[in-house]
Amino acid sequence: MQIRHFLQFKDFDRLEFEYLFDRTRWIKNEFKQYRRYWPLTDRTLAMIFEKHSTRTRLSFEAGMHQLGGSAIYLSTRDTQLGRGEPVEDAARVISRMVDIITIRTHEHQIIERFAENSRVPVINGLTDEYHPCQILADIFTFIEHRGSITGKTITWIGDSNNVCNTWLQAAEIFDFNVHVSTPPGYEVEPERAGLYGTDHYEQFVSPHDAVKDADLVTTDVWTSMGFEDELDTRKNDFADFCVDAEMMACAKKEALFMHCLPAHRGEEVDAEVIDGPQSVVWDEAENRLHTQKALMEYLLLGRISVR
Ligand code: CP
Ligand code: NVA
Repeated sequence: MQIRHFLQFKDFDRLEFEYLFDRTRWIKNEFKQYRRYWPLTDRTLAMIFEKHSTRTRLSFEAGMHQLGGSAIYLSTRDTQLGRGEPVEDAARVISRMVDIITIRTHEHQIIERFAENSRVPVINGLTDEYHPCQILADIFTFIEHRGSITGKTITWIGDSNNVCNTWLQAAEIFDFNVHVSTPPGYEVEPERAGLYGTDHYEQFVSPHDAVKDADLVTTDVWTSMGFEDELDTRKNDFADFCVDAEMMACAKKEALFMHCLPAHRGEEVDAEVIDGPQSVVWDEAENRLHTQKALMEYLLLGRISVR
């Protein structure tokens, strides 16, 4: 089987995502019924983290165990990666010892260099530019609640970061629209977002205008990991970009609210919204587990006929 990696959302096509969502539904149901499903017995996942994580780490580690395999957590603090071992060398060694690898790191180039030298599939657990596993879970969650995402309007409020970039790539694959509203100076950079050049997003100066007619409103921290030096400046610059009840009221009545978490109540979102009836953030977090199990199954076993 040819090795595949999942480094950006556009590494897969729409049919592959539909297959993954199909498998996710089945895998989730087995899990909820307390039925064992161990297709990855004796397989090992290495999890390399150069940044903090709760959901990504836990969902990959628990997910691999639930599929019958095992997972090893490697942080930069304890490995030779933290002492300057070249990424290429680490990839050559680690990929001779395990079956699949997930990495959370800084510049996207690092994971690309790693994948080029890996003998086994590599999954992006977040880079400065992309967070494909997050949007895999987010779209699955949207579909669970509202059906097809095609033709819908998703509004992104705040920083045009790794999560936003991944929504933009997904829009081109699933054919939906993204309205983005950021403070001046924080707009989408199409090249950094890795867009094909098609027209699936629109920038808005006013967040209230961006939210109009949205089927889903979503946001994220104002300061992503690795950008902590900009914390105070960003707090000032983003002050008018809090998703509050008044902003949500501009969206469709049945609009959902998502946030990849962790959240800062009173900054990018008000408690009233994230803890309110339109919010599906806990389903969204849980679905990281189920979608990534389907992803690991796919990368290791290819398409399987069990349903
Ligand atoms: N959403 C997300 O990736 O969360 P963690 O940083 O906790 O992994
Ligand atoms: N944009 C955030 C996402 C955290 C899951 C970050 O990169 O820190």
